[in-house]
Amino acid sequence: MHDPAALRLESVKVDFGGLRALSDVSIEVNPGEVVGIIGPNGAGKTTLFNVLSGLVVPTSGSLYIGGVQRTWPKVHELTGLGLSRTLQGVGLFSELSVTENLLVGATNLSNHNFFRALLGLDGASEIALQSRVANVLQELNIADYADRDAASLPYPISKRVALARALISEPSTLLLDEPAGGLGVEDIAWLKEFVLKFRVDKSVLLVEHHMDVIMNVCDRIYVLNFGQLIAHGTPAEIRENPEVITAYLGSEANL
Ligand SMILES: Nc1ncnc2c1ncn2[C@@H]1O[C@H](COP(=O)(O)OP(=O)(O)O)[C@@H](O)[C@H]1O
Ligand SMILES: [Mg+2]
Repeated sequence: MHDPAALRLESVKVDFGGLRALSDVSIEVNPGEVVGIIGPNGAGKTTLFNVLSGLVVPTSGSLYIGGVQRTWPKVHELTGLGLSRTLQGVGLFSELSVTENLLVGATNLSNHNFFRALLGLDGASEIALQSRVANVLQELNIADYADRDAASLPYPISKRVALARALISEPSTLLLDEPAGGLGVEDIAWLKEFVLKFRVDKSVLLVEHHMDVIMNVCDRIYVLNFGQLIAHGTPAEIRENPEVITAYLGSEANL
């Protein structure tokens, strides 16, 4: 018997007034997998992430994490469930330093019972968090920017800080919403490598328009169009799927 899915959504439906943003969407992310979600603008990709991260409560549907059924998580419950996300765009606190932005991401971690037990409740936990922040910054090659105001960062660095913030809680499943958006070739190459390294013992759910990122790092891909899943398969299968080509890939110059 193989492990239960790290993450499973079943028949998720989201209505915004009269608009059905997601219709009967079921997806699964297994341990060690990178799963991509693609589809044209307005397809419902970000809405799916919002459902997974406590920002939108679906009209109906079920959530399973590690094989256990869960109620839809509230924002503050995410890190306890092993989930962490980046936002489409950047979403840093511009008036805070890079380190402070990461400590904001760590607040939930320091409230987590397991880490409280592990680190103790005194000043030691603060020191442990500071060292975790330093380690993550090092890991992502942005340690030199630790004391800079977020507002002063070059765009690719700010994207990397946003990623660092998502890593602070040591998630087992990372949700990335357009992480390559606005990046140049070198940063995209770095990102691909990062995702492939991260997923070795964890999972990634990835929304992305850059087809070379999707096709190179994903084990499986789901395709959304107008809130419906129209296809699901390996990168090779998706690339050849006539319905996907018509709905989405046909318009992609960089296939
Ligand atoms: N909070 C919201 N309220 C009303 N409509 C929304 C909201 N969020 C998204 N939508 C609508 O839902 C649809 C899906 O949007 P979104 O999930 O952002 O698509 P994608 O990320 O695939 O571009 C769009 O028609 C969008 O306008
Ligand atoms: Mg989006």
